[in-house]
Parts: sequence; structure tokens; C-alpha cells
Amino acid sequence: SILKPIFYGSLLAATAAVGYGVYGLYKEQHPAPLPVETQSNKKKLVILGTGWASITLLKSIDTSLYDITVISPRDHFLFTPLLPSAPVSTVAVESIKEDVSTLIRQGSGKVTFLQKEALDVDPQNKKVIVEGDKAVDYDILVFSVGAQPNTFGIPGVYENALFMKEANDAVILKAKLKENLQKATELPAGSKERKDLLSMIVVGGGPTGVETAAELQDYISEEVAKWNPELAADCQIHLVEGLGNILGMFDQKMYTLAQDHLKKNGVALKLNAMAQKVVGNTITVKDSKTQELVDMNFGILIWATGNGTRPVTANLMNRLPETQNNRRGLLINQKLELLGAEGSIYALGDCTFHKGLVPTAQVAHQEGEYLAKVLETRHIIDNTDNEAVKASLSKTIKDFEYFNQGALCYIGAESAINDIKMSKKIQFKLGGSFLSFKVWQGAYLAMAVTWRTRFLIACDWIKVHIVGRQ
Ligand code: FAD
Ligand code: NAI
Repeated sequence: SILKPIFYGSLLAATAAVGYGVYGLYKEQHPAPLPVETQSNKKKLVILGTGWASITLLKSIDTSLYDITVISPRDHFLFTPLLPSAPVSTVAVESIKEDVSTLIRQGSGKVTFLQKEALDVDPQNKKVIVEGDKAVDYDILVFSVGAQPNTFGIPGVYENALFMKEANDAVILKAKLKENLQKATELPAGSKERKDLLSMIVVGGGPTGVETAAELQDYISEEVAKWNPELAADCQIHLVEGLGNILGMFDQKMYTLAQDHLKKNGVALKLNAMAQKVVGNTITVKDSKTQELVDMNFGILIWATGNGTRPVTANLMNRLPETQNNRRGLLINQKLELLGAEGSIYALGDCTFHKGLVPTAQVAHQEGEYLAKVLETRHIIDNTDNEAVKASLSKTIKDFEYFNQGALCYIGAESAINDIKMSKKIQFKLGGSFLSFKVWQGAYLAMAVTWRTRFLIACDWIKVHIVGRQ
């Protein structure tokens, strides 16, 4: 029958996929030894950051062509798409981190890593000023320091809210969640004091806020409700959004589906509610229709209202006041060169502001891949005396073109909304079903930057099905 070839075909494909994965994992863990380098006359390529843009660039470029130094306060790459899953242990924090030391060993050239924060850049003298007042020289600088959470100057946020941006944010939220659940068991069931402690407010209905609220709700419904239903009954997740709907990057049908799904699963949605201030354990929100001010008490407040500019990025803007006059991000040209420092500084990812490019991993990843090709071509141009070759190679450096592959968002209870664009012709939308969840999982497994993280994430997901979350 027809089932037989399908069965054997699937078995063969699964075996090939596992074999490929094991081979990838082995290669990652056993990199070839690097050649011993004597005096280097290569150009100094300094890369700031160890996020999506920088790590994609490092993984894509022939690292033997440049004398590469990576500078970042963070010694790991963070797989941000699954960060909201980490506070409730749907995945372990360690499964979505990859050590920079592993990543810089994958290429054929030596890469130096400096675990330091860059404080400023001097584009005139081609120096990066790092913590401890040290200066690092560069010939070419790749500025990809990402963004920081934006609080819009709302008072009380830094003092009282948690964020969802770095691996440690997940660790802090997890500890706070456990602490509050424990404290609540000592309070009378149904009491105001206990309900306030178990009130968890997420501010910002972008994908970070939605996924965080969805994961918290999963934890309450699927884990807490199992071992202490009374406690779960006193828990309430609130999602506060200033606009009339959440997830503005999706179409109306998809965000309506997400809103209905979240509400059905127990998340209290508060739309048209602009957060105004936070004092202690109370947040004040303003109804943008009635202008009414409402106080909401919380045990946990998570702030997810989007991206802001890092101080080092603002410093670089101040160095180039004539060209860098947009506070939302660094201005770049079509070849990702920083306006005002073309030829010596490239800026990628969330620290930039460019029409048509949204601050996503997808954009940062494609920019990293593009720049690797540009820098490889530049290496040949810089190392030839033949003017004709120089001119013809320069022409091959095309403008960066972004291909939007769509957007995905987890909405809880094994469901997602996916707006997928595989090519200009092949596009589809999928939302609210178990299949949408599996497609979401598959897409993120494919996106993981190493086989090690891919393997650990897959194991974590299986573990949740068998033994639940801790
Ligand atoms: P980052 O990845 O943030 O990396 C910046 C790097 O610079 C970090 O290593 C940082 O430590 C370093 N750095 C910071 N300051 C300095 C300094 N002073 N000197 C040197 N280095 C510095 N996008 C998607 O496309 N799909 C998703 O599903 C998705 N999910 C997300 C989920 C969450 C919770 C979050 C927060 C974001 C998500 N994003 C997603 C967005 C995506 O993570 C960002 O767009 C992406 O990380 C941008 O890459 P980047 O390299 O510009 O910055
Ligand atoms: P965002 O900018 O996408 O969303 C922030 C939300 O907060 C907006 O809806 C805004 O209206 C709201 N807001 C702002 N101020 C407010 C206030 N005072 N009170 C109430 N609401 C307020 O930010 P987010 O979600 O952090 O995403 C940042 C970037 O990362 C985006 O480009 C996003 O696409 C990307 N990302 C993508 C994900 C995915 O594809 N699944 C997941 C997470 C982030």
C-alpha cells in the first residue's frame, strides 16, 4: 500500500536528519586546531557585541582573513526567541545560551575575545574605548551592540519592574515567581493580600510581552494547578497594552485570534491602557479612551515596551552630530555603513534605525551574513594592486536587501500565530492550532545557531511532556 513507502521514506529522512545533527554536533565540539600565527599584517576587524548580528557575521566570514577582536560584556550568545520560555523552565536557560569561546573556535582563523563593555568610539582616530579606560585600535569596526529595554522615562520602572532581555532576566523572574508562590501558600486562600502577591502584570503587548504572559499562564494552568489548584485560582496574569490591540506586526485576523486565545486561557487583557507610573507594588495605567487613571497592584511586574538606545550608541551619535541625528538608532546606508564613517564603521541590528528594517533577529542575522560577504570581497580589494580588479570587485558589492520571512509568536497552551513567507510566492498563515505550535517549534529549532543548543532545546521540550516543568 501507499503507507509503506511513506513510512520507510520518513524513517530514512529522520535517520538522515539525526545523522546530520550528530555530525554537526561532533564538528562543533571538535574544531580543527588553529595554525600558529606569527606577526600579523592583516587588517584589524573589531566587532562589538555577541548577539545575533555579530555571531552570524563571525559564523559566516572566513576568520583567517582579518585580525579579529570581539568585544562584549556578555560571554555568550543568547537565543532570544526562546527567552520567554526560560523563567518557567519550558526550556532551561543554559539550553539557549552558547559560549562565545565555542563560537569563536569554529572558523579557520584566530579570534580574540575581550569580555568588556565598549564605552565610546572615536571614529576619527579609529579607536574603541572600553571599560578600564583602554583603547582598542581598528581598521574596520562592526558596531552591533543591540538595544536596551525602553522605559520611556516612566517613573518607578527601573526600581520595581523586571525585564525580559538577557538570560539573567529569566533567572531573576524564575526566582521571584517561586518566592511569591511560596510566600502565597502561607496566606489565606482568596485573600486580597494573597491575590495581590499572585498578580503578575506584563506591560507591553508586543511579541516579548505576549510570549512572556503566555508562558506564565501555561505554568499556572499546567503546573501550579496540578499541585495546588487553590493557589492557581488566586494567580492572575495581566497583559497591559497602550494601543487598541496587541501584536501590531500581525494582521487583524491574527492578532484577534491571539487576543481571544489569551483571554480564553485566563490572561486578563487590558487594552488602550497606557502605563503612567509605578510606585512600590502599584502601577497606574491611563485608559486612553476615558482618560481614567486606574491603580493595579502586583507581586511581579514585567516591563516589555520595546527597544531603547544604549549609552555607547548615544555616545557614537554625539561624535557624529551632522549625520547621526535620529535618536531612535544609528543611521546607515544601503551597504550598512555608518553615515559619517563610511568605509570604516558598519552598524548592524537593533542599534540601527533604517526604513523598512525592524529590530528583529531575522534582520540582524541577514545583515551579519551580508556583511561577511562584503568583508571577504573587501579583503581581496585591499590586497590587490590591480586597479581594474579593485574596480570590478567593488561593483560586485551590492546593496543589502532584506527578505522578510514573516513573524511567529507563541500565544500559550501549545498554540502560536505564524505568518510565514518562504518566498515571494509561497506564503501562508497558521494560527491557533496544535499544528501552528509544531510549525513554531520547528522554525525555532531550525533557527538555533548551534547543534548543541538545538539538541538541548529539543530535549527540554520532550522533558516538559514527560515530567512537566519545575
Ligand atoms: P543583540 O542580539 O541584543 O546583541 C547585542 C550584543 O551587544 C550583546 O552581546 C550585548 O551584550 C552586546 N553589548 C551591549 N552593550 C555593549 C557594549 N557597550 N559594548 C560591547 N557590546 C555590547 N527576533 C526575531 O526575529 N524573532 C524572535 O522570535 C524574537 N524573539 C525575541 C524574544 C525576546 C524576549 C527578545 C528580547 C527579542 C526577540 N527578538 C526576536 C528580537 C531579537 O532578539 C533582536 O532583534 C536581536 O537580538 C538583535 O540582534 P543584535 O545583534 O542587534 O543585538
Ligand atoms: P515592541 O516594540 O514590539 O512592543 C512594545 C509594545 O508596548 C507596543 O505594543 C507598545 O504599544 C506597548 N507600549 C509602549 N509603551 C507602553 C506603555 N507605557 N504602556 C502600555 N503599553 C506600552 O517590543 P517587544 O515586544 O519588546 O519587541 C521588540 C522587537 O523584538 C520587535 O521588533 C519585535 O518584533 C522583536 N521580537 C520579535 C519576536 C517574535 O518574532 N516572536 C519576539 C520578541 C521580540
